[in-house]
Amino acid sequence: MQFTILRHDILDSTNSQALKQAKLGAKEGLCILAKEQTSGRGRQGRNWVSGKNSGLYFSIVLRPNIDTKYLSLITLMTSVVVYEVLVDRFGLVPDIKWSNDVLIGEKKVSGILAETSDTPGGLAVVVGIGINLNSGNISGELSDTATSIRQETGKDPDIEKLLTSLTSFFSFFYDLLQGENGPGIIRKEWAKRSSYIDGKAVRATLENKTVSGTTCGLDENGALRIKTESGRIESIQAGDVEMLRKS
Ligand code: BTN
Repeated sequence: MQFTILRHDILDSTNSQALKQAKLGAKEGLCILAKEQTSGRGRQGRNWVSGKNSGLYFSIVLRPNIDTKYLSLITLMTSVVVYEVLVDRFGLVPDIKWSNDVLIGEKKVSGILAETSDTPGGLAVVVGIGINLNSGNISGELSDTATSIRQETGKDPDIEKLLTSLTSFFSFFYDLLQGENGPGIIRKEWAKRSSYIDGKAVRATLENKTVSGTTCGLDENGALRIKTESGRIESIQAGDVEMLRKS
């Protein structure tokens, strides 16, 4: 995959900019990078705090050649990519919380937001990656649940080396996803890196209900399977999942 990186000092959101470019015909591999976002977006309509140079704010335009039922695996695949970057560049020991939060010591260091758009050139997917680089953007309540590379390693990361590692792992796993048995391979790669794959007591908060139980694998499309106390299996497609602690 060929990457072209457009660098900006400040943008509303790298995802919004990448979606605009996709509508204008941007090819797969166009990347948007910003030092600061004024309206960084997170999952479930949340805000993504994006102070200047505090995080990596990066979005990639994709035109995936996979069955649409597997599109949701792109976010799982991207969490595997970020996981590998954290191991490769910093020797960290991450975990992945379903579906795509990358954690270190149970605190979130990276979030991923994938959005689709119908464009004149066909369906495009924009994958946005936010990685906390230093703690400037982590204060108050967030400090209980979030961490940064600086906090974990004591050093400020070299952005260029980080980008090289990110694009190279992205290319590798995206090729896998689009290859033979790609969806199955990506599910396995995700499962290897996530403590949430099996036997974890969790509560999932969905739009209109909550589901509590124990995790038991992924569906074909990456939905998380939760076995409830009554023995029923519920598949979670979207929503927030939190680990339940034994009291
Ligand atoms: C989450 O809620 O965990 C997802 C956060 C995704 C944030 C990234 S930062 C780069 C890209 N641009 C955005 O506006 N959001 C994503």
